[in-house]
Amino acid sequence: MDKIAVLDFGGQYAHLIANRIRRLGVYSEIFDADTPALKLRFHKGIIFSGGPNSVYEKGAPTCDPGIFKLNIPVLGICYGHQLMAHLLGGKVKSGGVKEYGRAKIDISRNVGVLKFMGDEQEVWMSHGDEVTQLPVGMEVIASTEGCKTAAIADEYRKFFGVQFHLEVTHTPNGQKMLENFVEVCNAEKEWNLKEYIEQLKMNIQKEVKNRNVFMLVSGGVDSSVAFALLEKTLGANNVYGLFVDTGLMRENEAKEVHDSMEKAGFKNLHIEDAGADFFKALKGITSPEKKRTIIGDTFLEVQKRVLKKMKLNSKDWMLGQGTIYPDTIETGGTKHSAKIKTHHNRVPQIEEMIKKGLVIEPLKEFYKDEVRSIGEKIGMDKSMIMRHPFPGPGLGVRILCAKKAELPTTWKATEKKMNEVLKKDKLKAYMLPVQSVGVQGDSRSYKNPVVLTGEADWERLASISTRLTNQFSAVNRVVLSCAPEEISKVEFSGACYMVPERVKLLQRADAVVKDFCVKKGIHNAIWQFPVILIPVKLNGRAGETIVLRPVCSEEAMTANFYEMDFALLRKLSDQLMAIKGVSAVLYDITHKPPGTIEWE
Ligand code: XMP
Repeated sequence: MDKIAVLDFGGQYAHLIANRIRRLGVYSEIFDADTPALKLRFHKGIIFSGGPNSVYEKGAPTCDPGIFKLNIPVLGICYGHQLMAHLLGGKVKSGGVKEYGRAKIDISRNVGVLKFMGDEQEVWMSHGDEVTQLPVGMEVIASTEGCKTAAIADEYRKFFGVQFHLEVTHTPNGQKMLENFVEVCNAEKEWNLKEYIEQLKMNIQKEVKNRNVFMLVSGGVDSSVAFALLEKTLGANNVYGLFVDTGLMRENEAKEVHDSMEKAGFKNLHIEDAGADFFKALKGITSPEKKRTIIGDTFLEVQKRVLKKMKLNSKDWMLGQGTIYPDTIETGGTKHSAKIKTHHNRVPQIEEMIKKGLVIEPLKEFYKDEVRSIGEKIGMDKSMIMRHPFPGPGLGVRILCAKKAELPTTWKATEKKMNEVLKKDKLKAYMLPVQSVGVQGDSRSYKNPVVLTGEADWERLASISTRLTNQFSAVNRVVLSCAPEEISKVEFSGACYMVPERVKLLQRADAVVKDFCVKKGIHNAIWQFPVILIPVKLNGRAGETIVLRPVCSEEAMTANFYEMDFALLRKLSDQLMAIKGVSAVLYDITHKPPGTIEWE
């Protein structure tokens, strides 16, 4: 079977590229950046992924230059494009204009990946460095306003480089560009997921041998599909599901999950009420990463307790998890990737167990769209497969905890400058005294959001949001006030932690949002809808603030905020304001990147 190799330079993208190639029906394999060229000589094409480094940085990942002598087409993306230019004798400049977000390329030649792409294309940029001198034999085939070398080509040797990310959905014709590369490679389309499931089952049997699997299920898509796949492969008696009620679930979630799993015919499912353990472990904790680690560790403790209670010998039982690829990459799971967040199923204790071969994660190579497709192909019910994704740590990463207001020392000056930029749009900006996680240039950021008041359409708001996060390094997120009145006062609402009362408040707000979306028929148009509680009060109104974060995405690696009809948004906001303890309602208008989907 024809294969394309993807070299992983540590960004978040290698598996996404592989996923995109598989969607074209061509099998793709991921390799470490420094894989010897000889090992790649039978592949039909080689793609260099993006990554967070600068090519001249000490320790920056590189590849075997022998690759360029294999007589195989090469496509470099972002860091991969810069590295290719550098290794072939060109020059790269560090720290020039930073471009994150949408950009337009002007195409000068329709060759290679840009065949049939016309004069211009919308693309997604996320970079600080750029190629400033081309290697001999290469030419520029497209530019943006900020980057002269947005796409380069050596048609004769079939080497192509693109500064933008053609693998993300924000490059609308990116898939077509990848298909162009597959054509340059002359690769046959011989791969399909249905046949691959048989291979997956064989892999599971090989890995589990004569042991059983103790599977942590959350009721979410990933763990349910993993559970079903394991049951189908190993038999119901050899797989045991544990649903841990962390106390950080959505309103009535535990019962709903239990009922739907029962209805779906899953046998051997045990529910453990462990809310008290989680609240105790999270007492006084504010750092998002600490919260994530504690939640992951507490899951394991509960699991051990249940194993003991049920007198199951841990030697005969492997731990099963529904980890999918984005969970591993955001935790810094490959050699060169930067850690964005520790996913609950990748805490150090689990990493240790993985090294010892005690954990099975049958879906760890896949993206959500593929997981849903596997679920469908093994006969699972659509209602279960199409649920919105929900993070393992649950509302634990949607309730911001803080001892005091957090603002950079220069916040007043930054706010003033932002307001100068916004004057002509008649909008006003205020920095919020809390911080949230973002991802910029493939690295983690932890910065303040800014709230806007005033009126503008979604397109204008989207472009202002991108502009503010590009221009002001102190800001990684932009939200919109849902209230008709001006903001007169922004305050920190006081030290607060993970306590049941706050969870109840968010559960109520989250349930109101979910009901509203189902009733108004917009639930399925939204890929995921986090509702977040932040310790901020506006205009002197007591309580805390609810942030709405609906996004459209395909695989969670990138996302656009959802553009809700303004009249609907006003109605939803009114319903939320009627909940006791809600001070204000804000709407997140940040794409990913620079904001992550969840706030922590
Ligand atoms: P971010 O916030 O990084 O999230 O843009 C990407 C996707 O991952 C989900 N998420 C998690 N899922 N365990 C999970 O199983 C976790 O610890 C976790 N943290 C984030 C998030 O909801 C989104 O769909």
